[in-house]
Amino acid sequence: MIVCHCHGVTDREIRACVQNGARTPTDVGDHCGASTGCGGCTELVAEIVHGERRRLCMVKSDVAAAPRAQSSAMAG
Ligand code: FES
Repeated sequence: MIVCHCHGVTDREIRACVQNGARTPTDVGDHCGASTGCGGCTELVAEIVHGERRRLCMVKSDVAAAPRAQSSAMAG
């Protein structure tokens, strides 16, 4: 879905920016131009950035928890 019509940026591109290290909507704008034109997409870009960051944190915490679950299962 195109999120930023000024620059033709999709939600997938915004998520990819976050996966590649962008931490803020400004970082995303620096990388792909999203929300650097009319500003009409600014709130949606911020929502997508924060949602993807939350998702990545959950994935990382799941990965971090996995070895503990395995080792406690082995001990018990
Ligand atoms: S629609 Fe994104 S800056 Fe205009």
